[in-house]
Amino acid sequence: MIPQGFITDLLHRVDIVEIVGRYVQLKKGGANFLGLCPFHNERSPSFTVSPSKQFFHCFGCGASGNAIGFLMEYSGLSFPEAVEELAQGAGLSVPREQNGPSQHERVQQRAESVALTDVLAKAAQYYREQLRGSPRAIEYVKNRGLTGEIARRFGLGYAPDRWDALNGAFSNYAAPELVRAGLVISKEDENKRYDRFRDRIMFPIRNTRGDVIAFGGRVLDRGEPKYLNSPETAVFQKGSELYGLFEARQAIRERGYVLVVEGYMDVVALAQLGFANAVATLGTACSSTHIVKLLRQTDRIVFSFDGDAAGRKAAWRALEASLSHAADDKLLSFLFLPSEHDPDSFVRERGAEAFEQEVSTAVPLSRFLVDELQRACDVETAEGRARLIHDAVPLLKSLPDGALRMQLVESIATQARQPAEAVAQAAGFKVRTPSEFARRKAAPARISRAPIDDLEMRVLRALVAAPELLSSIDEADRDWLASGDSALADLVQTMREVSDAASPAVLATLFENTAHAELFKKLAVESLDPHRPTGAPALIASAEAALELQSAVRKLRLKRLSDESTALAAAGLHDEGALQRFKAITAQQTELRRLISSSGQ
Ligand code: UTP
Ligand code: MN
Repeated sequence: MIPQGFITDLLHRVDIVEIVGRYVQLKKGGANFLGLCPFHNERSPSFTVSPSKQFFHCFGCGASGNAIGFLMEYSGLSFPEAVEELAQGAGLSVPREQNGPSQHERVQQRAESVALTDVLAKAAQYYREQLRGSPRAIEYVKNRGLTGEIARRFGLGYAPDRWDALNGAFSNYAAPELVRAGLVISKEDENKRYDRFRDRIMFPIRNTRGDVIAFGGRVLDRGEPKYLNSPETAVFQKGSELYGLFEARQAIRERGYVLVVEGYMDVVALAQLGFANAVATLGTACSSTHIVKLLRQTDRIVFSFDGDAAGRKAAWRALEASLSHAADDKLLSFLFLPSEHDPDSFVRERGAEAFEQEVSTAVPLSRFLVDELQRACDVETAEGRARLIHDAVPLLKSLPDGALRMQLVESIATQARQPAEAVAQAAGFKVRTPSEFARRKAAPARISRAPIDDLEMRVLRALVAAPELLSSIDEADRDWLASGDSALADLVQTMREVSDAASPAVLATLFENTAHAELFKKLAVESLDPHRPTGAPALIASAEAALELQSAVRKLRLKRLSDESTALAAAGLHDEGALQRFKAITAQQTELRRLISSSGQ
């Protein structure tokens, strides 16, 4: 866990304009900076970065966030990775609340990563050059139907058929980093070393930042193993990397989904034939880590597996890895090609349109799950139906609570000829009716117990757009604002905690993963728009804006009081307590009205 205070401080120190400016060409336009959005294709700039709010927003595709969010989205980093990267640039080191690696260890790890990726980048360049110089390797690549352009895009190379070819790439072939990077194998006893990759077509594997972290090498002719991969190193963990993800990111955004395939060649061939949104696992099963990584880039995953038994088995493992991430807003589906094909051969033989067709008819996770379970059980017998429920229970339990799980409970129940309640009970779920589900699903979107009315929205907007206005509000009103459990109360409490660091960027981070996340993101975005309906930024922080806010807060108090007194009256004012409260409200109302009219608003 990274302490929240550090994140707040970090966001305060970094400049989003500078961070974004490293990747996007920005031009000053009024109070903000404008550029072409890196998250979708556009010709005229609708991507806005606000130096005062430390927030970006694209009016075209809706992407928005602070500097951390930008790095996560742009470089596909996780939250801690993005924080780490920002901190590095700002010369800060990230404190950890739990005892992870020490400061010293992290510095060492970082240095090792840099050393290894340097060596790997050099090797990649060397292999690329060797490909250009080897007619036989070029012939192979061409025979596989690849163009020069696509080979360049994926940085394909060739490792010469020699034991020490890398001697020509590095001034010191004896350097220990070459071994630690997995490029060279050393025989400890004989003090001899030799290249790991010889006479192979080289596929560099990049991380989401674009650094080469490993290689896959394919034999040109027959030979074992067909593909040789780098060993696990300090920068390469096979089970969490995906081949082609770096190259595919833009296409994944544009197409709105990612294709997960099994082979290097599948990724490259698909990219050449119009599906640049494909990635491959590296000879391992698709893991939960893979799924998390992919769902950071998109809400839709299409797995493409060979149509044979091995392919179905691999698909089932992918399904198991996916279940706990299959939230209701995610769409995961499975595409099974005819058994004689892999995506590479399919798209070459049948064409892009036929493949597109396969994608559009891919089997949704829910159906694949039910179908597979049913195949294993004979539902014509009581034993088979009992077995079906038995097998389904652990899978259902893995799914997040939501509408999809509910529907699967129902499908399994239908197949097993049992009421849905029986299946839900077997899985240990609280039984709900479908309408209860609908209500529950709607709940997180609701911002607070009381729905937000226009007046409250006005106050929220003003405070997010100009946090410094909070201090201009009358103290009693401020205390009132901070009480209760509305979105407004949460905001004011948080603003008090972080005091002058309460920029929209900080607020968006602090409210992330809370019930108010969407609201504050929306408010932060609105605060960037110079044409927004309420209060232009020019007005903000002016005395006028302060007065207007003060008045809005009092009107809001008045409204809440009047709602309360109406409710009390409707309930009949039977007991002494209610009567007292009613009187107190009336007195407060009178006082507030006086204040409002005396301030002339
Ligand atoms: P495949 O054997 O299906 O190969 O392996 P492919 O991708 O279709 O390759 P081509 O078309 O024959 O060139 C699928 C993936 O399994 C891993 C690799 O990641 C490969 O892309 N694999 C396969 C290995 O790691 N080692 C092997 O020896 C074979
Ligand atoms: Mn193949």
